[in-house]
Amino acid sequence: MSAAAPVVITGASGLIGTRLRAALRARGTPLRLISRAARIADEAGEEWLAWADLPRAVRGAAAIVNLAGEPVAGRRWTAAVKATIRDSRVSAGQAVVAALRVTPAEQRPRTLVQASAVGYYGSRGDALLDETSEPGDDYLAEVCRAWEDSSCGAEELGVRRVTARIGLVLAPEGGALRKMLAPFRLGVGGRLGDGRQWMPWIHADDAIAMLLAMLDDPRWNGPGNLCSPDPLPNSEFTRALGRALHRPAVLPMPEFALRLLLGEGADPLLQSQRAVPALARRLDFRFGHPALDAALADLLKR
Ligand SMILES: NC(=O)c1ccc[n+]([C@@H]2O[C@H](COP(=O)([O-])OP(=O)(O)OC[C@H]3O[C@@H](n4cnc5c(N)ncnc54)[C@H](OP(=O)(O)O)[C@@H]3O)[C@@H](O)[C@H]2O)c1
Repeated sequence: MSAAAPVVITGASGLIGTRLRAALRARGTPLRLISRAARIADEAGEEWLAWADLPRAVRGAAAIVNLAGEPVAGRRWTAAVKATIRDSRVSAGQAVVAALRVTPAEQRPRTLVQASAVGYYGSRGDALLDETSEPGDDYLAEVCRAWEDSSCGAEELGVRRVTARIGLVLAPEGGALRKMLAPFRLGVGGRLGDGRQWMPWIHADDAIAMLLAMLDDPRWNGPGNLCSPDPLPNSEFTRALGRALHRPAVLPMPEFALRLLLGEGADPLLQSQRAVPALARRLDFRFGHPALDAALADLLKR
């Protein structure tokens, strides 16, 4: 990818987008950032644009990273929330394809990195899940399928499309790890439900490195699990976090309490996905933080 051609990012203000922007800025890549909110660029090389400007943003860009979507985890899923979770993602994918379609072929980006999630696979107990595994049939799996399908029209336009099935991205500044830190630091953390559900986690630095590889390397194509090679059951993850914080992790949160708090919205915490990054392995992607204890030590020293 030419350093001078811009990259377009939707959902760029979020946890992953903020880190991806920093990584791309560091390589001198100009950024066109699509947001629902009017924003003033405070970093050189960044231009914030509205969704209505997407066709203009796409023209002459090297690539698009489509991350936008209503937050999923840690909230009650009312019918309205469920509709927004789904519609925000499907309409973002459709808007990307519509923008590509009106762009002359010679000015069209070559690459689309489309976000998805390991929720694609549903809840699958101890089964090893790689990119060839069947999708699940619950609500989140259906959302992920519709999300992935929403931008498949890009391929007909000759755009290389990589679908990043993202696991739990661990970063101290946001997402799941940040939510877990407060109870664990107070010594009231513990496993969720029976703790047997597999958690496909990834250190945020590896998540960004893998997204950059997807942008740069044309061998990445189709679905790719964006998670570490070492998924762990929730009970082991919990013990590792307790060790990293030098706190006990002995107060489990039973499934009924999570259901009382979040209803169906507890699914992301209780579902089991033993997902492995088979495509990344095949392409010889080097994980900086493949093991959880060392990854947590690194994340929490900052
Ligand atoms: N972080 C993870 O562990 C993880 C795991 C699996 C999948 N993913 C997926 O990867 C993507 C990026 O993750 P993230 O952690 O960076 O998410 P995030 O922090 O929640 O950011 C998502 C971005 O999407 C935009 N957005 C939010 N609600 C929207 C709506 N209703 N319509 C259109 N845009 C909306 C927001 O940008 P503006 O406010 O600027 O419009 C926001 O900055 C998300 O789609 C997420 O579901 C993340």
